[in-house]
Amino acid sequence: MMARPLPERGVYIYMDDRNDRAAPIRSFVLRQGRFTPAQQRAFDLHWSRWGLDYTGTLRDLDRTFGRRAPRVLEIGFGNGEQLLHAAQAEPDRDFIGIEVHRPGVGRLLNGLADADVDNVRVYAHDAVDVLRDEFAAATLDEVRIFFPDPWHKKRHHKRRLIQPAFLALLATRVRDGGRLHLATDWAGYAEHMREALEGMPQWRVDARHADPSIRPPWRIETHFELRGRRLGHGVWDFVYERI
Ligand SMILES: C[S@@+](CC[C@H](N)C(=O)[O-])C[C@H]1O[C@@H](n2cnc3c(N)ncnc32)[C@H](O)[C@@H]1O
Repeated sequence: MMARPLPERGVYIYMDDRNDRAAPIRSFVLRQGRFTPAQQRAFDLHWSRWGLDYTGTLRDLDRTFGRRAPRVLEIGFGNGEQLLHAAQAEPDRDFIGIEVHRPGVGRLLNGLADADVDNVRVYAHDAVDVLRDEFAAATLDEVRIFFPDPWHKKRHHKRRLIQPAFLALLATRVRDGGRLHLATDWAGYAEHMREALEGMPQWRVDARHADPSIRPPWRIETHFELRGRRLGHGVWDFVYERI
């Protein structure tokens, strides 16, 4: 599988080995699941304060937040437990969450409203599009991707979000000295992440967090992770620095 840019939009894609066709990464299947009345109400009531609509054009994030502060992006935040925790723990940083699963977004919106948190904005859209089209170069201080879908079967590995072309796109949006933090509970994906990162000159291991078996203090254990641990899964955290 080889990454190559898509000329008209300058995005990354992968090459499908079998038919030599360029294609976007399809890292998710939209199973919207149960969208409860409370979650719908969350969109109706709170989207205007915390939601960001994907427009496909560059966004002025200073304007969005009404200040210039270090910015952390969490991709695939699920129900948003970690994002809400982090935003409250670090009010001096601004947090952007991107998640395609709308029930999860609704839950986070309710959490943000309950806690009256100001330093968070949320997209309900594909993170690949948002990164490519809405964020300027070197605009992020940190990117977090916790427990991305592992796509266990070999024929589905091309759907994994973490792959060289995507890591290269991230590297353009994170400032020099910024950070990338990935976590997974799937041994095969951990190996895949490590190999992909090691092959890239833009990222090097953050020496302060070099042991993947130690969870950095800013990441809490989510329900998703606890369920994995109960099933006997290990957990690996990879913290890299943009160089
Ligand atoms: C396995 S869940 C993990 C959720 C959460 N990070 C946690 O640890 O509990 C992966 C999440 O990534 C989301 N996701 C996958 N691909 C995405 C994409 N391209 N853009 C935004 N979200 C995505 C899925 O909808 C799903 O909620």
